[in-house]
Amino acid sequence: MTVGEDLRSSPRQRAAEIIARKLPYARGHHRDKLLGGRRIEEWFCAEYPDLEGLLNALAESPYVDTAAPESSRLISDLVSARGSMFRVFTEEEIGIVVEWIRTLGSTGDPVPRGNVEPQAPDGRGDATGPWPGTGMGEPESASASPVQDARSPRLDKRLLYYQLVNAERYPESSRPAKHYVERCLARARRAMWLSRLYPELCSFEYSRAAFEHRIEVSYREAVDAYRPFVPPPRLSREEYLWLFVQLAPLILVDGCWLRNVGCLYARHPGIAAGLLEIYADEVGGGDPEASHAAIFRELLRSEGIDLPEVSSDEFIRCSKFPSAVFDLPLYLLSISQYPRTFLPELLGLNLAIELSGLGAFYMKLVDELSYWRIDARIISVHIASDNLASGHAALAKAAIVAYLEELGAGYGEREVQRHWRRVWRGYVSLRVVAAKTWFDLLIRFVSRFGLKRVQRRWVT
Ligand SMILES: [Fe+2]
Ligand SMILES: [Fe+2]
Repeated sequence: MTVGEDLRSSPRQRAAEIIARKLPYARGHHRDKLLGGRRIEEWFCAEYPDLEGLLNALAESPYVDTAAPESSRLISDLVSARGSMFRVFTEEEIGIVVEWIRTLGSTGDPVPRGNVEPQAPDGRGDATGPWPGTGMGEPESASASPVQDARSPRLDKRLLYYQLVNAERYPESSRPAKHYVERCLARARRAMWLSRLYPELCSFEYSRAAFEHRIEVSYREAVDAYRPFVPPPRLSREEYLWLFVQLAPLILVDGCWLRNVGCLYARHPGIAAGLLEIYADEVGGGDPEASHAAIFRELLRSEGIDLPEVSSDEFIRCSKFPSAVFDLPLYLLSISQYPRTFLPELLGLNLAIELSGLGAFYMKLVDELSYWRIDARIISVHIASDNLASGHAALAKAAIVAYLEELGAGYGEREVQRHWRRVWRGYVSLRVVAAKTWFDLLIRFVSRFGLKRVQRRWVT
């Protein structure tokens, strides 16, 4: 290349030339790292290297900040003295890359700019950000995949979880999310058909009194099952900590099912207000340290367990998590994308979740964790905030009553009953989806700690 040609080159062309020069040395160094929905190694593929695509993906990625090019993570982090790409580029090359990033923010370059959030497919706009449970901020690495079919048994649940935690970056995740919700609800419907086996799942004709009575009875049964704690605890310290790690993908997104309910304000202001009150508590009401996810993270840290940031792809790759533990949080994240489409089911699911934090199971858990001197705050916070008197369970119940009253006033009793069946299906769905996860965890527990532990501690 002559000097004249060099001057005529655009920063983008010059950046592409730099990458082309590095390619032979870059191959094989990026393991499974993703960029723009592909393994970085695939962009470098010897037969068909795609420099244009790679630059576009880089421009869209969190590694590039067009508002402050020098502060882009690519420059300030990766190629810095402490970064994983230190000395990969010369100072002159870094200058060219910075110049290219600057042009992304200032020209009519058709490449989508980094840090510009895509609109959600239903036009809601940026309602969902990286999960604010802990750490905040951008995902560690932008990964995506071709649109998945949630009806396929080969659905990559970890990847869909990642995409939904970072939903504003992956609008294409909405379709598989909807399919996944439908799949979970179909399972709930089947369980209701078999409800003779599970009387507590059996639906009934709605009236406010019958509904409130049913909730009151199951709450009372759950609380009355509590017996004062007599040592030893059912699980050992090690077993409890193992269990908490398994549940991290769920607890670290606590509250996520309600993250988009603000869009209900226009049509259902009273219902939206109650749901948002719950949501605000779940995410700390403006204090990130008080979010349930942060309290849980605190428990893990106090035990020396440090898991990756939940919005990072390191998190979904973490070998500590079996795939089955993504089932329930994936369902919650998926339904959060459709608060209007699945409103009755969401209301039922919300009630089931808030009630599940009450009763003997959680009370015993506090006793046993305290015995082992494990921080039990994540449990006691739920017992307190989910209370049926005026807490989350009460708000969840009131939202259902208000919704069905609205329907009754506008459309009559038949619609009330039809929507009630959907509410109840949502209520049942929590149990059904969680059951599969619990079963899988039981198998893993047995293989790790032995069958005798289960017989002695769980069955007896
Ligand atoms: Fe919570
Ligand atoms: Fe709650």
